[in-house]
Amino acid sequence: MTTQLYAKNGHECLMFHDLVEEGHEVVQSNQFIICHDEHMAVIDPGGVITYNTIFMRRMKHFPQSKVEYIMASHADPDVVASLNKWLVQTSCRLVIPALWSRFVPHFCTQSIEDRLIAVPDRGGLLPLGSSWIIVLPAHFLHSEGNFQFYDPVSRILFSGDLGASLVSNRQAGRPVSNFDEHVPRMIGFHRRYMSSRKVCQYWAHMVRELDIDMIVPQHGSFFVGKPMVNRLIDWIERQDCGLDLLTQAHYSLPRTKLL
Ligand SMILES: [Fe+2]
Ligand SMILES: [Fe+2]
Repeated sequence: MTTQLYAKNGHECLMFHDLVEEGHEVVQSNQFIICHDEHMAVIDPGGVITYNTIFMRRMKHFPQSKVEYIMASHADPDVVASLNKWLVQTSCRLVIPALWSRFVPHFCTQSIEDRLIAVPDRGGLLPLGSSWIIVLPAHFLHSEGNFQFYDPVSRILFSGDLGASLVSNRQAGRPVSNFDEHVPRMIGFHRRYMSSRKVCQYWAHMVRELDIDMIVPQHGSFFVGKPMVNRLIDWIERQDCGLDLLTQAHYSLPRTKLL
């Protein structure tokens, strides 16, 4: 199913949330398209499982458009393992943290040097036709080189793994209706995958300067409306996670057989 997050005056944002078949040992993930007039960016397109369906749906929804960018928040397989297919079948350029730019060629069958936009740590503004996408630093949330993408037209923040929840495909296509009930679906993921409270606080201070109507993570349900957006930012800011929670006990010599 395709969820239309925003559509107005030739600017459209789509979300795909059910392209990974349930029942397999695969984490649910969301993929996104921003299309401004005929200029298209695909955000965190996923791996080989999701490629064909996204490609077909983008042809159906935006037959005139051109895929200008594949935008990867970081270099995990659920984010950008389909890269080679996009490079072969479209004339897209890859937008990725500079930190990972020399690692992703391992996904590719050809040189990508002339199609690479290696974003420096500070982020930047990326043109999309007459509009822009703001590439925001979100390092260590969770990946060491990590960006989020803010669309100033729809006022959607595509937050990558931050704000993610582990839910069914069906739930992922819905906005969060009760924040407190949603917390148990997020907390384990954040405690393990996010690096530290210090970074969460820096991120919260930065995004409070943006006018955000929606936060849409790469896994699970999304957050609509300023009260819900603010609750998520406040919650993330207070989370002890990653290094905060580690003790010597996590680094003891193992004694259990794996097989
Ligand atoms: Fe990730
Ligand atoms: Fe992810």
